[in-house]
Amino acid sequence: MKNRLSKILASNGVASRRKCEELIFGGKVTVNGEVILKPQHMVDISKDNISVDGNKIQKVEGKVYYILNKPRGFVCSHDKERFKNIVIDLFPTKYRLFTVGRLDKDTTGLVLVTNDGHLSHKVIHPSSEVQKEYLVKTNLDILPEQLEKISQGVSIDRCFVKPQKVVKVRKNTLKITLKEGKKHEVRKLVEQTGQQVQELQRIRIGNLRLGNLEIGHYKEVSLQDLDPIFE
Ligand code: URA
Repeated sequence: MKNRLSKILASNGVASRRKCEELIFGGKVTVNGEVILKPQHMVDISKDNISVDGNKIQKVEGKVYYILNKPRGFVCSHDKERFKNIVIDLFPTKYRLFTVGRLDKDTTGLVLVTNDGHLSHKVIHPSSEVQKEYLVKTNLDILPEQLEKISQGVSIDRCFVKPQKVVKVRKNTLKITLKEGKKHEVRKLVEQTGQQVQELQRIRIGNLRLGNLEIGHYKEVSLQDLDPIFE
């Protein structure tokens, strides 16, 4: 997309708009090898070669946010030497993306993927109180006392965690809402009752729902979709 040269320079981190105009008037800026003296000259940073004092301007990467329906068997890691199926490999490579928190290899469902480190910290940190909701299928029917035990919480790494909400939706299916994300938290909550987790799927993070996003597919979302607190 074409835009004014001064605006492109400023929005890609060269200097303030006024300073960029001075650079242009001073003959410091070239577009495709030609000195341009007009700030309103139209350019496309993806196509034109723009330099200031001989240094090529690189496009500043915008922040992107995706939700993915993670397939079973994929890991939330960058370690390509250790793992064959990596979540990030499901995405276009032009961004330096990472997952916000982790799901276990066998867990499916909603993963937030971004290049925004600031947001990642906010979502993961327990103080943010961003809810994560999971659908859990167990091997046996869930008894009332087991439901009660899960609701009471469990100790993980000497830290006691208690779910915000536990709802039985079918004989062997629960919905569990957490606000922190301790390693294997849902599995530990459920398995302390003697039940085995057969399927675990994350269905919501904040206001973002998995909905009918197909397994292995992703879509771009905005910060506002995630939670109004991140606007
Ligand atoms: N809790 C778990 O036990 N596993 C996950 O993948 C996520 C939450």
